[in-house]
Amino acid sequence: MRDLVWNEFLEIGVSFIDDDHKKLLKIVADVKSAIGQGDKCKSGRLLSALLKEAKDHFSKEEEYLLEVKFPYLQEHKAYHKELLVKTEMTKRVCEGIETEHDLEECFDAMAEFLVDDILRGDIKFKSYLQYEGYIK
Ligand SMILES: [Fe+2]
Ligand SMILES: [Fe+2]
Repeated sequence: MRDLVWNEFLEIGVSFIDDDHKKLLKIVADVKSAIGQGDKCKSGRLLSALLKEAKDHFSKEEEYLLEVKFPYLQEHKAYHKELLVKTEMTKRVCEGIETEHDLEECFDAMAEFLVDDILRGDIKFKSYLQYEGYIK
């Protein structure tokens, strides 16, 4: 599992996007520690919060990309959708799990999907934004 802390190289340069990404990472880290404490109830609650925040973030990000006329918006939207479907599936599996070890594995899978948006997905529009002069 990758580090769950914010790092400068994750920065896109659009403040609301970076703030959202920080918030998502923070929830991911909180889920991790709730699992570590064996608090299944809390981790379940946090996983739901994570999904909700991710959905909100994706739609805000898509709105912005439409505004700046990002040429691969449809692909990025499809990518977000895929992430949510995977995350939702993983969450359901996680909810049925009893042992802490399996829960941890579940969490890793979920976190991986979401961190993917920041690390893999959004890097793709960063260079476009730079090229078009929206960010430095
Ligand atoms: Fe994002
Ligand atoms: Fe994204």
